Amino acid sequence: KPISRRSALTLGGLGLAGTAVGGVGLWWSSSSARPARPTAGEELREPSELRSANGRLQLRLDAAPGTIEIGGRTANALSFNGGIPGPTLRLKAGDRLGVTLHNGLEDPTNLHVHGLHVSPEGNGDNPFVTVVPGETFDYEFQLPADHPPGAFWYHPHHHGLVADQIFGGLYGAIIVEDPEPIEAVRERVLVISDITLDGQGRIPSVAPMEQMMGREGELVLVNGQVNPLLSARPGERERWRIVNACVSRYLRLRLDGQQMQLLGIDSGRFATPEAVEDIVLTPGNRADLLVTMVEGLAVLEAQPYDRGRAGGMMGGSGQPRSGTAAGRARLATLTVAGEPVTAAPEVPVQPAPRDLRGSTVTARRELTFAMGMGGMMGSGGMMSFTINGQRFDGERVDITVEAGSVEEWTLRNTSPMDHPVHLHVWPMQVVESDGGASGAAIWRDVVNVPARGQARVRIAFDDYTGRSVYHCHILDHEDEGMMGVIEAR
Ligand code: C2O
Ligand code: CU
Repeated sequence: KPISRRSALTLGGLGLAGTAVGGVGLWWSSSSARPARPTAGEELREPSELRSANGRLQLRLDAAPGTIEIGGRTANALSFNGGIPGPTLRLKAGDRLGVTLHNGLEDPTNLHVHGLHVSPEGNGDNPFVTVVPGETFDYEFQLPADHPPGAFWYHPHHHGLVADQIFGGLYGAIIVEDPEPIEAVRERVLVISDITLDGQGRIPSVAPMEQMMGREGELVLVNGQVNPLLSARPGERERWRIVNACVSRYLRLRLDGQQMQLLGIDSGRFATPEAVEDIVLTPGNRADLLVTMVEGLAVLEAQPYDRGRAGGMMGGSGQPRSGTAAGRARLATLTVAGEPVTAAPEVPVQPAPRDLRGSTVTARRELTFAMGMGGMMGSGGMMSFTINGQRFDGERVDITVEAGSVEEWTLRNTSPMDHPVHLHVWPMQVVESDGGASGAAIWRDVVNVPARGQARVRIAFDDYTGRSVYHCHILDHEDEGMMGVIEAR
């Protein structure tokens, strides 16, 4: 009988990080749920890459169940084109991306190109499309000529099934290349996700409590691998594109002993790279990172992040609670050895985006993200997840905006846990977060709204009309209704 995911979650939440297995071992998030020992020391695999040519990339994505090797075990998971993650799509600003999505799943699905500034209408980035099992759908995404470079990703977006399908393995990276290359010895795409497998290699169905908290998998994967090995030489500068594809897990990433510089987050880019010691990525966020290699052995680690807050979810003890605090996880092991290479040249100063703090705001809105008792969830739970008191209804337009305008939204969170808020299509800039002014004005698409706190963002509703959505990117919350419909006219 598979172990209860709830008890595993609780153990992980208590910070029982487990023990290292062998020299380059794995830290289990739960000692009671130790699966077979994974193959240690496997080199990091890069997902296959598809690159646009002459302004176009056309491909087919097959979403299907199948067996796939994860950490030395055979897992029954979901994948795009048989890989976890699916292929990396490399595009340039101004390109056209055509995707024929085939649904080989047992449930409806669709596709969202997370963070891309493309039209939400018709067969564009339209979250209202349903592709039923056995059918195909042709998506067409036209990137504007001034599309910001950066790391993006794709994943299914069929309301009610998003968390299950992403947790199952359906995601992949999209890179929009820099107009002026930034020199690096090599570039790696690191898609981080989490998954839970039972003794038969199946993904157990989610328990109601876990769904309420937002599920976190027992295994944290990098490109579908458990603790892969990366090797480099001292002095080498690598470019890492990190995607947090976890359904609910916040990643506080550390790489002690190495030199990390953050180029940007989401589609935002700092003028000059910022030296960082750790990076917090909410579900859905991406980091664009430069790592300059220092000789030795280093561990890419996810440190605990408590997305709950004192005051108490379950009775107000003020103690860190189980369920919202992700355990520590070893994600990858880096060995830096060999002949040193000379330092890479400075990164050219990046063009500053338009700063929305100086824009005329045509509307100010307040959006309150709340968890309440007494909702009737399909799953039989007892919490409701709402925005301004309402659960998602695809037939209702919650916010109508004027195309070409700039708006300011205050995102309030009355609940005892963080919600990472994502808006499709139109990029945001953070003006204020939890009382503090924001730093640089950079384009963001997932903004954390801390437990019992708030964030203020400005949004540029440039150049697209049509309907889309905003929602919590803890996808269990989104599936339970924490999503709204926006229409630009
Ligand atoms: Cu990455 Cu609406 O989602
Ligand atoms: Cu949430």
